[in-house]
Amino acid sequence: MSAAAPVTEWTDFGFDTRQVHAGEFSDLNAGLRVPAIAMSAGFVFDDFDDQAARFSGQSVWNAGANAVLSEVDAFTGSAPAPIYARQGNPTNAVAEARLASLEGGTSAVAVSSGQAAISSALFALAQSGDHIVSAASIYGGTRILFGRSFKRFGIDVDYVWDTTDDAAWDRAIRPNTKAIFAESIPNPCNDVTDLAHLARVAARHQLPLVVDNTVGTPALIRPFEHGASIVVHSTTKFLTGHGAAVGGAIVDGGRFDWEAAERAGRSYPLITRAPRPGAASMLDRFGATAYARTAREAVVNDIGPSLSPFNGFLLHQGMETLSLRIDRHVASSQRIAAWLADQPEVESVDYSGLPGHPLYELAARDYGTGSDGIARTGSVFGVTVRGGAAGARACVDALRVFSRMTGIGDTRSMVIHPLTTTHATFSPDVNERLGITPGLLRLSVGLETPDDLIQDLRAALDAVRALPRDCASGGTSPLRAVVSPS
Ligand SMILES: Cc1ncc(COP(=O)(O)O)c(C=O)c1O
Repeated sequence: MSAAAPVTEWTDFGFDTRQVHAGEFSDLNAGLRVPAIAMSAGFVFDDFDDQAARFSGQSVWNAGANAVLSEVDAFTGSAPAPIYARQGNPTNAVAEARLASLEGGTSAVAVSSGQAAISSALFALAQSGDHIVSAASIYGGTRILFGRSFKRFGIDVDYVWDTTDDAAWDRAIRPNTKAIFAESIPNPCNDVTDLAHLARVAARHQLPLVVDNTVGTPALIRPFEHGASIVVHSTTKFLTGHGAAVGGAIVDGGRFDWEAAERAGRSYPLITRAPRPGAASMLDRFGATAYARTAREAVVNDIGPSLSPFNGFLLHQGMETLSLRIDRHVASSQRIAAWLADQPEVESVDYSGLPGHPLYELAARDYGTGSDGIARTGSVFGVTVRGGAAGARACVDALRVFSRMTGIGDTRSMVIHPLTTTHATFSPDVNERLGITPGLLRLSVGLETPDDLIQDLRAALDAVRALPRDCASGGTSPLRAVVSPS
């Protein structure tokens, strides 16, 4: 009796099954169960005609004659037959198909970093003379990217400070605006974004909503279910998960109506226009994966921020345990955030999942709550200690289990003082509006025993308590005061 054929199409399986299997393939020659690392800069063409077929973009990767195909062939748009590793490679194709499956998108493109993902995603939509509107509360590095490189390339970015204010979006959006950008759970202030609300604003203006889901991850929120059009990730963080490899990804939701936008006067020439007379547009050729194909072919392949297959391997392997790690990251964070809020040396905790936070209702609606009533808003949040900068210094220097470093989403817990690091180049006014005060610390809660983390924080807060009483207060943020759930 012959054995049943293995499953090769994982679409209808649960999240945990898909994070383990989606995109996988096994090499029947060697019996590899784990997709191998394809360390090859280029790929052999079968024959003369195959060269042209691959360059035409119509040829789909089949993982070799002896491989069991999986989700990869369901995502033909994300797995073009490989030509040269700048454009993609079989290892990264596993990670791309897996992430597309977890996010509920049509296809994904892996790139070399989160910053590369944001840049490539937006360069596929906007060019010199165009404009993007972003939520103000975003990762400091993205704000720097927008204010420096995007500006130099002629793409202006304006910010909306109160993302619940429709009139503010309407005022900011211009005829040449090409995208709305936001983070699901903004880094560092954990002031969750109402994505469904932003999606309604975007739809009203025929704009794609691009969501950075790095801190949220698809284990907690899938922005496409809330109306987003494109998702980007720094895979450096929770997706790869162990702090060992920089990477990024762009995921195509496949539902944005590029033609309707074009008719409404928003042009996306790379996607909707023929590249030369007589040729078909990316939209005509690739339909629901046209955006991802455009990002891959017309941006990533041109500019070159490709992901190394080694990092692609760590990424698809990291995703296998995503939901398990996130459950633990979140459970520890909920406990630590609630504990911190009760400590006399703490002025405030920016964890929107905590009851009483102005965004709690939204957080509970979009992220769900645990049995203690605390919403699952990730594991990256702010804590403001008493004593302003002196308090922050005392706290940071006393921590022994938390690592002092920039980074989030690692197995290890980490702490950083945003005002003197990630946000050091912003004006005092911008930092104050963002809630980046002298006493604010960003925590990224790792997978250590929660009691050990609390003990470490207790010792650090003892150092804050030992400071002279006249140390300045950190103050509170106007942003925190005005933000309210819609
Ligand atoms: C929300 C968010 N997006 C993007 C990035 C940039 O990612 P990378 O460091 O992989 O370029 C980061 C980095 O911390 C981040 O926190």
